[in-house]
Amino acid sequence: MIDLGENRFTGEIPTWIGDSFLEVKVLILGSNEFYGSIPSSLCGLANAQVLDLSSNKISGVIPKCVHKYTAMTTTESPNSFLSEMSIIGYPTLDSWYIFETKSLERAHFMWKRKEINFINHLGLVKLIDLSSNNLVGEIPSEITKLVGLVGLNLSSNNLTGSIPQNIV
Ligand SMILES: *[C@@H]1O[C@H](CO)[C@@H](O)[C@H](O)[C@H]1NC(C)=O
Repeated sequence: MIDLGENRFTGEIPTWIGDSFLEVKVLILGSNEFYGSIPSSLCGLANAQVLDLSSNKISGVIPKCVHKYTAMTTTESPNSFLSEMSIIGYPTLDSWYIFETKSLERAHFMWKRKEINFINHLGLVKLIDLSSNNLVGEIPSEITKLVGLVGLNLSSNNLTGSIPQNIV
């Protein structure tokens, strides 16, 4: 897991992140000052289950290679990480967020103002948050291959075109 969220990191998202951390399950770069486009190498994170690039200044299009997030193309848990979840109200934060993680076996996510407390199994938590950036263009239809996603937040961008038909 890599969590660099809520800092003042700036510059482009380094391409080596996608080339180097092939086992990473959770990548959080949200709430920084990253700009430039999403490098297509980021699609190399085949084991990624949580990708949070929200609240940056990222521009360009959503890469078509998103279907390479193979962990998100299945509704199954890749390993023993995650079977039970409980939702506890949490009043202040707006979107999902891992605000405390002692280990990947006890991860806390924020989603829809609820704290979702995943105990034992992180495997079923599959989220993409690209919200609050400057993304343009269409939502690639490849995103519909990510049938395991439990959350997709594309809000507050400059996306155009139509919503892919097979999105479920
Ligand atoms: C989606 O992102 C926006 C902006 O970052 C946030 O306000 C909203 O609460 C998020 N939606 C969900 C369902 O988490």
